[in-house]
Amino acid sequence: MKYLFLLFSYCLSLSAIAQQATDLISPEKGGIKFQKQSLKAKNQIVVTAHPLASTAAYNILHNGGNAIDAMVTAQTVLGLVEPQSSGLGGGAFLVYYDAKSQTITTFDGRETAPFEAPNDLFMAKDKTPLAFFDAVVGGRSVGTPGTVKLLWETHKKYGQKLWEDLLKPASKLASNGFKVSPRLANSIKNDSKHLQTDITTASYFFPDGQPLKEGENLKNPNYADTLKQLSVNGGDYYYGKEFSQSIVEKVKQAKNSGHLSTKDFKQYTIIERLATCSTYHQYNICGMGPPSSGAITVSQTLGILENLKLSQMSPDKAQTWHIISEASRLAFADRGLYIADPSYVNIPSGLLSKTYFRNRAKLINTQSSSKVISPGKPDALTTSKFSQGRSPEQNSTSHFVIVDRIGNIVSMTSTIENGFGSRLMVKGFLLNNELTDFSFSSEKNGKLVANRVEAGKRPRSSMAPTIVFKNNKPYLALGSPGGSRIINYVTNSLIAILDWQYPIQNAFNMPHIVNRFGTMDVEENTSATNLISDFKSMGYEVSMRNLNSGLHGVLFTDSGMIGAADNRREGLVVGD
Ligand code: GLY
Repeated sequence: MKYLFLLFSYCLSLSAIAQQATDLISPEKGGIKFQKQSLKAKNQIVVTAHPLASTAAYNILHNGGNAIDAMVTAQTVLGLVEPQSSGLGGGAFLVYYDAKSQTITTFDGRETAPFEAPNDLFMAKDKTPLAFFDAVVGGRSVGTPGTVKLLWETHKKYGQKLWEDLLKPASKLASNGFKVSPRLANSIKNDSKHLQTDITTASYFFPDGQPLKEGENLKNPNYADTLKQLSVNGGDYYYGKEFSQSIVEKVKQAKNSGHLSTKDFKQYTIIERLATCSTYHQYNICGMGPPSSGAITVSQTLGILENLKLSQMSPDKAQTWHIISEASRLAFADRGLYIADPSYVNIPSGLLSKTYFRNRAKLINTQSSSKVISPGKPDALTTSKFSQGRSPEQNSTSHFVIVDRIGNIVSMTSTIENGFGSRLMVKGFLLNNELTDFSFSSEKNGKLVANRVEAGKRPRSSMAPTIVFKNNKPYLALGSPGGSRIINYVTNSLIAILDWQYPIQNAFNMPHIVNRFGTMDVEENTSATNLISDFKSMGYEVSMRNLNSGLHGVLFTDSGMIGAADNRREGLVVGD
């Protein structure tokens, strides 16, 4: 009964937020469709983690903007209304399909380690790694943010609408206020201790000393002011001395002080990188290469599975998930050893070779779990000079997909890393703790760790913004938050859609079963728990848990697009 009541009030608050979102759409509402879950659209579509961001971005498309224009609006609104997940103080990866040239490219807006960061940034005085939250909370974990530069540079390259007009929706919401969503209210309540370590953060999320409640109207004049400065002066203003000095001071004066300087901002660049693509059956799956491990690890898992006739296996059987899990563990073993910022580390070239996948697939015993799974040797040049590191990525982050009338596609995953990042707030936004995505130890057993802290380096990510092609045409765009489980959420959705022909919404709703390092994680309160005893008899240690993905995507069909939003979060699909 209590559960039903909670569910009822949750739906009421969500519909209040959706109402605020629909009110934003002007002038006419005719032809526009909204859906909490899947929705069909013919012309243009937006799927983000928050109704206000989806509708504001849709409005840009509706008024003649393209997908990149709408991306700027979606991200600036998300940074305001979903501040725990992404924002102006964080980083992002964009996978972009340009309809006119029919090309795919990627933009790396990952944070960088400060030039003054020491290699032992996350080691305690006694030379042991810091406890996770001792590293996260405060200035130490803050990397040079990349999101604003990514928005600015890609808008300069592809945008059609005026930059300042794209910031207006977020600016207006920040000045007039927006309704605190149930998810934000819960996140604040659950993170009280850390959020109150910074006086600015505490006074924003705990006005009068009490946590903000769902449905409360929240204004953020400092955010509006920041957007005003970026409107007038352009995105590069963020990286100039005048603006970045406030961030630097915040980081340096924080209790757990950090190493950022205005030089880090001055030298920060967005990197356009070739998409990392790999075939899977008749599909070409493209995503974000290193420093993200996303595309390589998704493609490795699928590439190994391609040898195991997955489409003939039942999603209801434990054995099917055992085989998927073993492929995932093999891919994660390589990820841990080899993948890091490519400007600092030579990543083996054979990680995506079909022969390598065949050899790795032969290691899978289809009946029982392997006790130990080791990284492979993907090419002749591979040496064992690296060691596995510890880099615990967390569950914050946001993914959105936007398709415009011309067919341009934005698939972007954006983050400040942990929920509420470093918990430091300045100029109306939170600063990231992305540096804790590095391994805390630089070496293990006398060998260096590829993903160790180095000045100027980008920490390894798991973010996997993806676009899938069939017959050289876009077929599917998707991604998710979820720390390193992002890789599994995306891979498992691809399997459900491409192998098992699930409708996109059903694929996203499918109960999660995830295995990265040996333990079988099973989503609590779902039918997946029926398989637990079978997993145990195959030799798995099982962990039943809340697996909070935020899968957002668009499927392209002959009769139009179908957008879908994960029913575990507050996302909304808007299109026409
Ligand atoms: N911080 C999450 C990720 O980059 O994977």
